[in-house]
Amino acid sequence: MMKIAFAESSRPKSGTIVVGVLEEQKLTPTAAALDKETGGALKRAIAASRFTGRKDEVLGVLAPAQLSLGRVLLLGLGKASALDATAMQGFGGNVVAQLNSVGESAAAVALDRIEDMKLKPAEAAAHFAFGATLRGYRFDRYRTKEKPEQKPSLKTLDVMSRDAAAARRAFAPLKEVAEGVFLTRDLVSEPANVIYPETLAAAARPLTKLGVEVEVLDERQMKKLGMNALLGVGQGSVRPPRLVVMQWKGGGGRGKAAQPVAFIGKGVTFDTGGISIKPSDGMWDMKWDMGGAGVVIGLMRALAGRKAKVNAVGVIGLVENMPSGAAQRPGDIVASLSGQTIEVLNTDAEGRLVLADALWYCQDRFKPKFMVDLATLTGAIIIALGSEHAGLFSNNDELAGRLAEAGAAVGEKLWRMPLNEAYDRMMDSDAADIKNISGGRDASSITAAQFLQRFVNGVPWAHLDIAGTTWSKKDAPTVPKGATAFGVRLLDRLVAEHYES
Ligand code: BES
Ligand code: MN
Ligand code: ZN
Repeated sequence: MMKIAFAESSRPKSGTIVVGVLEEQKLTPTAAALDKETGGALKRAIAASRFTGRKDEVLGVLAPAQLSLGRVLLLGLGKASALDATAMQGFGGNVVAQLNSVGESAAAVALDRIEDMKLKPAEAAAHFAFGATLRGYRFDRYRTKEKPEQKPSLKTLDVMSRDAAAARRAFAPLKEVAEGVFLTRDLVSEPANVIYPETLAAAARPLTKLGVEVEVLDERQMKKLGMNALLGVGQGSVRPPRLVVMQWKGGGGRGKAAQPVAFIGKGVTFDTGGISIKPSDGMWDMKWDMGGAGVVIGLMRALAGRKAKVNAVGVIGLVENMPSGAAQRPGDIVASLSGQTIEVLNTDAEGRLVLADALWYCQDRFKPKFMVDLATLTGAIIIALGSEHAGLFSNNDELAGRLAEAGAAVGEKLWRMPLNEAYDRMMDSDAADIKNISGGRDASSITAAQFLQRFVNGVPWAHLDIAGTTWSKKDAPTVPKGATAFGVRLLDRLVAEHYES
């Protein structure tokens, strides 16, 4: 694991020093000083290359004779006036990837002496470190035969700042958010023979150490409450279902002022489709069908870790969707916790059944300010939006606006989709109050959301369909391929911007 530290001195004795170059080959002060010391080696290297200082360009200059260092890495910063938190995070991530690809083990970064930046130097350093941290994540616990040269090489990264103490302070809450992101990525990456309802519930338990109250409801308790929609999904599996309730009470307040914000996650630890079984090709992806629940756990970890001044509730419904002699059949009718009966025409439309009971339970017990659910709910949202945006559905324009804004700010983008009565009617059943599929492929991400809306009881609510954004097939600056934890940073930001006292 890479160690990140902040320091004031700007000259490491070995390894790589990373310095910035603005657009049109304008050297930053540290870069200019190094160039002078090396008799113009940096400028000569630039002249001999295509490097111009455009954002995210890099140029490695090996061991100029005058320096004890191994390498100078020139990093293109682009326009100084465009340097914001996101840009700094991206630089941090890209630098880590670059240093690992050349086999470097130690590096120091001196980027913060730039005028007209959008953020203070200490913040710039903190966000660089945040991006570096996020990109440094790797899920490798099952790679037992890896040789040292196949592992990431970078061991230490020192981020220089004239006020290292201020940078450290700015980094502290970001580090907690990164811990939340890592927890989510770990849980989502684990295979379904390791993470199933009981073990996923157990993974939420340690949040108690940070002051989160964690309750785990078992099958018997859920049966007693009447959560038959959720239980029906799990009944074909030998792994018993769980419902986890997490409460972080950082906001204080009394009465209405103490009303919590609430996050609800789909936690299908493996989705075979059940009796409406999925084709075997690609079914392995369904180990991450608990991505929404993973995000809620990581988010609670982040909020508690940075001691957010908010009352927040997390509710996750955990089941394994399996075919067996005990499994739910297409056509079965279940009575949900809300009292509404559901005709289960397709056992593969299971996420909505789990969320129906989790949402109803959450609003009934906590009377939250709002509910946001996250779910890898539909393949159709991938057809509509790919992996660029997650789908946003909401009954409340203010909440939807705030979510979209928070998403844009952290690079977890949302795209709002419509809800209306005509779509709602498509879910009417002939046999029960509602059916779990519309019966056609038309607008099927929307009809899924309409289904959920029938279980929110009028509470301000938003649904994030994260089927396309939970798992990534390619590296991005701050998100290595694999489990993304999409939603943790977004919802942390939503809370920080609007709901902290
Ligand atoms: N977990 C899937 C959705 C999914 C698909 C997530 C691909 C990630 C990648 C969900 O439970 C599901 O099976 N949805 C069905 C709904 C259909 C039966 C109405 C789908 O999208 O095909
Ligand atoms: Mn399914
Ligand atoms: Zn599913």
